[in-house]
Amino acid sequence: MSKENTFYITTPIYYPSDKLHIGHTYCTVATDSFARYKRLRGYDVMFLTGTDEHGQKIEEKAKEAGVTPQQFVDNIVEGEGGILDLWKLMNISNDRFIRTTDDYHVKSIQRIFRRMYDAGDIYKGKYSGMYCTPCESFWTESQLVDGKCPDCGRPVKYAEEEAYFFKLSKYAQPVKELLLTGEFLQPMSRVNEMIKNFIDPGLEDLCVSRTSFSWGIPVDFDPGHVVYVWVDALSNYITALGFDNDKYDDFDHYWPAVHIVGKEIVRFHSIIWPAMLMSMGLPMPKKVYGHGWLLIDGGKMSKSKGNVADPYLLAERYGVDALRFFLMRTFPFGSDGNFSNELLISCINADLANDLGNLVSRTTAMVNKYFRGTLPTEQEADEEKDAELIQMATSLSEKYAKEMDAFQPQNAIGEIFKVLSRANKYIDENAPWLLIKDETKKARLARVLYNLVETIRICSGLLVPFMPETAAEIAKRVGAEGINWEDLTKFGVLPADVTTHTGDALFPRIDMDKELAALEEISAAQKAEKAAASGANADFKPVLPNVKVDDFYKNDLRVVEILACEKVEGSDKLLKFTLNDGSGTPRQILSGMQPFYPDPSVLVGKKVVAILNLPGRKMAGQASNGMLLSAESGDLVKLCLVPDEIPAGAVIS
Ligand code: MSP
Repeated sequence: MSKENTFYITTPIYYPSDKLHIGHTYCTVATDSFARYKRLRGYDVMFLTGTDEHGQKIEEKAKEAGVTPQQFVDNIVEGEGGILDLWKLMNISNDRFIRTTDDYHVKSIQRIFRRMYDAGDIYKGKYSGMYCTPCESFWTESQLVDGKCPDCGRPVKYAEEEAYFFKLSKYAQPVKELLLTGEFLQPMSRVNEMIKNFIDPGLEDLCVSRTSFSWGIPVDFDPGHVVYVWVDALSNYITALGFDNDKYDDFDHYWPAVHIVGKEIVRFHSIIWPAMLMSMGLPMPKKVYGHGWLLIDGGKMSKSKGNVADPYLLAERYGVDALRFFLMRTFPFGSDGNFSNELLISCINADLANDLGNLVSRTTAMVNKYFRGTLPTEQEADEEKDAELIQMATSLSEKYAKEMDAFQPQNAIGEIFKVLSRANKYIDENAPWLLIKDETKKARLARVLYNLVETIRICSGLLVPFMPETAAEIAKRVGAEGINWEDLTKFGVLPADVTTHTGDALFPRIDMDKELAALEEISAAQKAEKAAASGANADFKPVLPNVKVDDFYKNDLRVVEILACEKVEGSDKLLKFTLNDGSGTPRQILSGMQPFYPDPSVLVGKKVVAILNLPGRKMAGQASNGMLLSAESGDLVKLCLVPDEIPAGAVIS
């Protein structure tokens, strides 16, 4: 097959640090739909997905789980309910699956690193900067948002290490020119973002090796260094075709690729990746499409938002095709969208149960009832009544293709549903139930049903990239032999005496209120189960990050008895406490408790909690050695009291 006829499309390779959610599923289903569309158009398609398995975060997670990093990723990728299972469930038609721990990839990366080094684009230096561990990214001060990682919003820490650098700065101009072609990166808004935020302020050289952790691919000529995960990860798109390895041999055949990626990694794909390819003297990717995010309640998806966005659960309840369809139908591909169960259920009810499902079942039921399943060849057209439907169905494939070629699946589906609605209206206009009553109108009735069957054949055929199983089932019901593009561009392909078949409702209607209540129950049960498993309250919202128990024990917390307590002269906040800490020598602590204890004498004789190993300091000119613990709730603040029978000096633990 000639190269013009090849189409290479990729998803990002996902981090196997946790179970994947509906957001990852969205990206993979979209890419799968594009791959299936191109296959339908007769292309020789290579569709690649995989997992990005190296890096500090995985190393840390494995340590927490008490397993080796390799065991950890193996379980998430290949284990039951893992990533491979999810893609199987979602009917993903990838041709290859790459894991960055695959042997051939590891060897290729070492060669790729050396290629860029030999090209004079990698040099050794020292890196210092603010580092975000979860994102494995160094950031400059100006890139931080409120002092935190601009990608994930988590705290960053200062880090310094000997490292190799890639001369990214050298490629600023050619990368900018590539971006400005307008074809390379889409949607166009992302081009402006990249130029304004990254290229115009000045591209800095990129740190491409690490010495601070070991779960990565060693630089073969300097094994204390591991290759920066993004160099490792981005190169998957060429190693999976056999670049710099013997595992495959179709790099020349399939490259360049269309990369489908989430908007947060557009920077890596549209700046760093082209620069790496330039350094290696390889052709640029055909396109990078940066899609939007699925949000929940307007915010990022996170585990704490419950499991109702779990693709396993949703596919099990509503069917894989319904879920795939919903994702592609509802959210404009380039923008963010708010995921909700209500939206999903109403999409199934309105589009699938009503517009599509009803049309198929009404039409096949009528062919069955009026003609025992096979239409007579004697048919009577009515130019005026039929023209619009036939014209819409005939021109549909062209409009649809335009949208699919522009990576706008939601619009492509929109075009299909305009025709399906028109077909439903056509039934009402022609009222077959009246035609059947008049023997002289039988030929007309046959033609009305034929037009409907043909319209259904075209519409459902074009749904094949989104709902492969349903499309095949509908093709069967309307008597089509199979689905091919040529036939979808023409009206009148089926023989006049077509035989159709009835079947179960394709998409039963869902009772919204009952279903939402059921989901609520599932979510509550899952939360409770999780809480029971972890011993934690799932509704508890931490205000501070976790600390290690050893850190807690560094505090010398003791019971102290209040011997005397008085206001500090000249201060309207401070109280001076004289305390028995069990040592025999009274201790003095000053505390801002005055507003909460107008009569401090009530405290005398009480036992409270103090931290004793804080450095001593002066407050309002007086010494204070320690801090008293208090509890606060809004404006209410009180000291933490200890039962009387506990002696002063007792340790709190
Ligand atoms: N490993 C890197 C990618 C390396 S590619 C050479 C990575 N992995 S990821 O697992 O964190 O996310 C990958 C992709 O998942 C995102 O770019 C995006 O396509 C998809 N999504 C993750 N969360 C998403 C949403 N909430 N919504 C839509 N897509 C989301 O980054």
